[in-house]
Amino acid sequence: MGEDLSGSSLADIDVSDPRRFECDTWQPLFARLRQESPVHYQAESPAGPFWSITRFNDVVDVEKNTEIFSSEPTIAIIDPPPERRSQMFIAMDQPQHDVQRRAVQPVVAPKNLREFEALIRKRSGEALDALPEGKTFDWVELVSRNLTTQMLATLFDFPWEMRHKLSEWSDAVTSDERMTAGKGLKMEERLEVIMEILEVFTRLWHERIGDGVESFDLIRLLQRDPNTANMVGDPTNYIGNLMLLIVGGNDTTRNSMSGGVHFLHDNPDQFERVKNDRSLIPSMVCEIIRYQTPLSHMRRTVTRDFEFRGQKMKAGDKVILWYCSANRDESAIPNADQFLIDRESVRNHASFGFGIHRCMGNRLAEMQLRVVWEEALKRFSDIKLMSPPTRLCHNFVRGYSSMPVQVTRYQ
Ligand code: HEM
Repeated sequence: MGEDLSGSSLADIDVSDPRRFECDTWQPLFARLRQESPVHYQAESPAGPFWSITRFNDVVDVEKNTEIFSSEPTIAIIDPPPERRSQMFIAMDQPQHDVQRRAVQPVVAPKNLREFEALIRKRSGEALDALPEGKTFDWVELVSRNLTTQMLATLFDFPWEMRHKLSEWSDAVTSDERMTAGKGLKMEERLEVIMEILEVFTRLWHERIGDGVESFDLIRLLQRDPNTANMVGDPTNYIGNLMLLIVGGNDTTRNSMSGGVHFLHDNPDQFERVKNDRSLIPSMVCEIIRYQTPLSHMRRTVTRDFEFRGQKMKAGDKVILWYCSANRDESAIPNADQFLIDRESVRNHASFGFGIHRCMGNRLAEMQLRVVWEEALKRFSDIKLMSPPTRLCHNFVRGYSSMPVQVTRYQ
């Protein structure tokens, strides 16, 4: 989708077109929106009418005003029919949001993260040692998908031999045909997967009740908190939160792990710098997450008629917060189009959102990526991209379907 938008009116362009993300040609449109129409109304799209917020500070302001900009009934650009709506705390306002988030937050408490780090290091080392040398392989499959699936299985204490199911489910749940230019699953197909997830996790819930195991996995955390101890009896809420935790911890980190290879390939000077100075890895990881922006947006819904930056919004209007655009906003991030691993205020990006819904797993994701890069740079003098990566045709998940690489080991 190599577009020339210069002659087109913004009113005629579908900002949410997934093909623009598949071809990675979204940047000029969003630069134009930031410049000409930062709070932009689109009257028609496959998801219906919506507002696009594209400047960094506006995204922050909308996220902080939770009274006007609600996360209910959904944070997806498309509206599921009311009878198919799952309840998850990312799509809840206060106070219910806080109650449910509090129940599972301990999974990413500092003490748990310290314990995870050793495990992640061991697994990363094993995965990287097993990579073929002198042969092209898919980094997405053998590294990113492999390691993030293992992590997700640990967070749920999920049966190890079935762990591949978690990433299959994650892919299926996010693959709605209306967000993928028709390439995804139909609603009935997704529903089948959702029922399978519910069945497996309902069994796991019952097996774990009162088993006395002192584990901090997500299921036992829900069981232990009095506010969520009966969640299994409310399948809409249980499946909603399961989907949130499965998707939240999976695609995002996986695609950042792949994105890093791509950005280092395109910026050989930055690759040299980090090879020579591995203390740059933590800030490089933040820069990878900014540059990738693994989730391009979140949605809010206007609760009552409201004027924002001179634009009259109506109760019920959809508002899309384009994180990918906020992350390229020069007024908040100098040289935003460049990949610079030691930039100042490197954590000041939009990829994790802001306010009460700010990503719960942000420290876990950063740690996982840091450890993978620490272990990779110990082993490999080069990670070479052999042909351009292929990207997902998706307007929500910004990710890769393949990343063909070869690695060279230190002798
Ligand atoms: C690079 C990796 C990741 C990125 C870019 C990312 C991005 C996001 C974003 C944009 C939000 C919504 C923020 C908002 O609405 O303001 C979010 C929420 C969330 N994320 Fe992440 N995420 C990542 C990794 C993870 C991991 C590893 C977990 C696993 C624990 C996780 C769990 C969650 C949860 C549970 C929420 C809902 C928070 C709430 O509503 O209070 N995320 N994430």
